[in-house]
Parts: sequence; C-alpha cells; structure tokens
Amino acid sequence: MSTDNRSFKKLRISLTDTCNMACTYCVPDGDAGGIRAQLKPRLEVSEMIDLLAKLHKELGLKKVRITGGEPLLFPGIVKLVAEIKHLGIDDIAITTNAFYLSNLAPRLKEAGLKSINVSLDALDTEVFKAITRKDMLQQCLLGIDEAIKQGIKLKINSVIIKGVNENQILPLIAFGIQKQVKVRFLELMKMGYLHNNYLQHFVSQNEIIEIIKGAYVIEKQLRVPSATANYWKLEEEDYAFGIIANESEPFCKDCDRLRLDSYGKIYGCISATKGIDIKGKHDLKPLLTEAIQQKQRFKFIGNQMSMQFIGG
Ligand code: 5AD
Repeated sequence: MSTDNRSFKKLRISLTDTCNMACTYCVPDGDAGGIRAQLKPRLEVSEMIDLLAKLHKELGLKKVRITGGEPLLFPGIVKLVAEIKHLGIDDIAITTNAFYLSNLAPRLKEAGLKSINVSLDALDTEVFKAITRKDMLQQCLLGIDEAIKQGIKLKINSVIIKGVNENQILPLIAFGIQKQVKVRFLELMKMGYLHNNYLQHFVSQNEIIEIIKGAYVIEKQLRVPSATANYWKLEEEDYAFGIIANESEPFCKDCDRLRLDSYGKIYGCISATKGIDIKGKHDLKPLLTEAIQQKQRFKFIGNQMSMQFIGG
C-alpha cells in the first residue's frame, strides 16, 4: 500500500482508552484516566485479530505496537499477543505504564512479546504523583525489573513538562545506565485538552540537551530511517539516550505508521481527527488509500484528541 511513495509497515493499536493513571498532560482531571472511560473492551480479541489479519494481508506488516490508554488493562492482552504472533508478525511491542508488568511480564514473554516501552516520567515519588495523579511509582519500578528479568527488550519514555520534571532528566539517565535500558525524552505534543496552550508546558529538545550537557559530554548519532528518536552517545559511558522531538525535529517524512483504535477505526496519521471505520468492511484497499492521504508531509499539526484515544 503506497501513495506518494508512502506505505504502512507498522501498526499501532490503541487497545483501550481506559487508563489507571491520569497524567496531567493527557487528561484534564483525576477521574478521566480510567473510571470514566470504558472497561469492557469494545472489540473482542477475535474481532481485533480479524481486523489485524485483514490489515496484514493488505500491508505485510513488519511490526505491531499495542498501546492505549493502558493496554495491560485489556482482559485478553496475553491472548492477543499470542494471536498476533500466530499471524506471522514477529515484532510485537507494547507501550505501558508498567503498573501490571510484574504480574504479566512472564506470560507476555511466553506469548511472544518482543519489546516494551515503559512510560516513566519521574523517579521521584512526589514528581511522579504530580504528573500521574497516582501513587504508583514503586509498583511500576517492580514491573520494569520483572520485564528486564524476563529478558524482554525495554526502553523508557519520559515526557518532559516545564517546571515539573526537568529535574528528573539526569536521574532518569543514571537509572538507564544502571539498568542498561535506553531512556528517551519526549517533547510534549499539542494534543487533547492542552492543544491550544501546550507551549507554556513545552520543553524543547535543545533545552533537554543543555541540561544533559551540564553533566555529560555527548555526541549526536545518525538517525535510523523512519525512527522517531534522535540518539546521543555519552562519551564517558557505553550508553546512548534518545529524544523524540516532534516539534523541533519532526519525523513525518518517512513515517510508516498506521493506527487502529479500540472502536475498529484506522488513522493514517497521529494528526488525523477522523477515524476510518474498517469493522465489517470487506475491501480495505480504498480505506487504506484514504488513510494514507491523512499523512502529514512535514510536521505534526496537533490533534484535539488526547493520546488516550489514538495511542502513543
Ligand atoms: N505529548 C507527548 N507524549 C505524550 N504521551 C501522552 N500524551 C502525550 C503528549 N501530549 C505519551 C505517554 C506515553 C506515550 C504513550 O505517549 O506518556 O509515554
């Protein structure tokens, strides 16, 4: 599937818009993270797999990332991973806040999960609480340790918010070195309820780099095609950290991601506001062509929808 030299090779599924946290940059109040959203999945595992099989047949997907909301809240998560593997897709990843990982990591590994991105914005209990509105840091750290123990490839993603967690950048790098896991800092994206005033909370790639340069000598590395992150190597350690700089260094031009939400709608771009329903449709070709036309060429233009619905 390709238009304008673009094709979809990676799929992100927002499996549920429910979350057990309520991060301040994602939802406006403490309730919205989970309770208000649905707990019962809208699509059963079998329906989800049916849609995935059809997409895979059209696109020859190389990778599937399961995200949310919080995907580990989805009751059939382990089964879903196993069934995706069954479709012949080997590169299966999850983005999670790690809260349920200490229980689930062994079964996810057994089902064929290859890698995990953990969203962890702070290592300090109070800062963690200020962002997530939950006192869950210790349980998340246990989840990270269990996933590492299981030998699942793991990366940490930290969204940096002005005046809130810049002081967590260096501790997060030290944590990354200690655990030998990559840490990637994310520029805040103009999404959801912060869409119009995200700039007051925004910390740029350059500002993040300046903070890190206060402690380390660093060297920028070459970008891998279609990658989201830029990487820098620390001179005095065998370690590299990343920055996902949606604003400062957009990576739209070679993006090959397609998104599927928990209603069975696809989005060709994270900037797209209108999902395209593929549930019960026999011919996906015209719908995928419509989705690829949603792709931005140069830059993320923002989305009124929160990441909770479209997936990270
Ligand atoms: N900007 C940047 N990252 C965000 N995330 C959620 N909302 C935003 C936003 N507005 C992150 C989460 C998680 C991933 C799914 O996306 O923290 O790491």
